[in-house]
Amino acid sequence: METLLIVLGLYVLSSKIIPIWEAVKVIFLVRGGVLSKKYPAQNEKSARPWALITGCTAGIGEQITHRLAKEGYNLVLVSRSIQKLEQLRDELSPDIEKKIIQADLCSQATDLHTYQRIAYEVSNLDLAIVINNAGVIYNGYYKDILSAHIREQALVNTYPYLLLTRALLPQLLKRKVQTAIVNLASSASFIPGPYSAQYHCSKAFDRFFSEALASELDGSHIQVTTVCPMYVQTKMISNMKPSWRNGVTSSEEYVEKLFQVLSSGTRVKLFVGPTFHSMETCVNKILMNMVSWYRPTYVMIEKFRKGFIDSEPKN
Ligand SMILES: NC(=O)c1ccc[n+]([C@@H]2O[C@H](COP(=O)([O-])OP(=O)(O)OC[C@H]3O[C@@H](n4cnc5c(N)ncnc54)[C@H](OP(=O)(O)O)[C@@H]3O)[C@@H](O)[C@H]2O)c1
Repeated sequence: METLLIVLGLYVLSSKIIPIWEAVKVIFLVRGGVLSKKYPAQNEKSARPWALITGCTAGIGEQITHRLAKEGYNLVLVSRSIQKLEQLRDELSPDIEKKIIQADLCSQATDLHTYQRIAYEVSNLDLAIVINNAGVIYNGYYKDILSAHIREQALVNTYPYLLLTRALLPQLLKRKVQTAIVNLASSASFIPGPYSAQYHCSKAFDRFFSEALASELDGSHIQVTTVCPMYVQTKMISNMKPSWRNGVTSSEEYVEKLFQVLSSGTRVKLFVGPTFHSMETCVNKILMNMVSWYRPTYVMIEKFRKGFIDSEPKN
């Protein structure tokens, strides 16, 4: 009986310590380095390494794209709108090479040919970083959300993560130097979320996939990082202004910290966000482990999401 109680006590304690340790690591221990030194070109003398990013034409993805260009990566830009892709390509530094691939990750989400086509188009590039980022959200009472939107959210937020990664893995495995796969999940993955039920479960899907893949590839030259933002100022959250009160971070600040983490020598498998983000999610995770405190976390989500529902046009 005593042993059982000790094991139970250790389990409860570790469920508190692990989230706190993750937050402490990101807040205090991570020291950014040079990304292209950590994820370099195969051959030091060869051209720049390449990075591929989906959903690069807005929000976090667009910010990451500009940052990757600044770090000297050649870029494969994947998104649905050819006009936006061309505009983004023209904005980026002429010093790097760019390749644009138009793919609607909703209508073509389950079409294997889409991923084979992308893999074929990048097959002779030295791909060092792959970022699965494209995503959509539809908030509201589930009964009011259009079936077409439910379908879109299910497709864009799940299949491309699985199938693009699968299509590119053989090429990534052939590299002999450090390589990164970065998956944009969400802090929504930690809790079922009323008024955005399906989004939360699609992001739990992404996080589970990403964390499991990270374990499978442990010990190889491929590092998988799961990214779980809370609220980042983009069109996805109606461009709400950053403030510590609403927990919103600007996309610049968010991506700055993400790049510190990616380029750091300290291994962070799951990145939540800058200081405030990390602390908030750490508290949430701890609260979730205390059943009696569960309700306040829901109340917080309800309050936030209801704000969106009221501000969004009705279907
Ligand atoms: N912002 C947040 O607070 C937050 C929080 C947690 C997690 N996340 C996650 O972070 C990722 C990026 O979010 P974000 O806020 O930057 O979103 P965003 O500003 O709405 O941008 C989403 C990007 O995905 C692209 N996209 C959407 N549907 C697509 C489709 N069918 N095919 C191809 N591309 C498509 C968009 O293209 P267009 O330019 O054509 O629209 C855009 O480039 C998502 O996976 C999201 O779930 C965001």
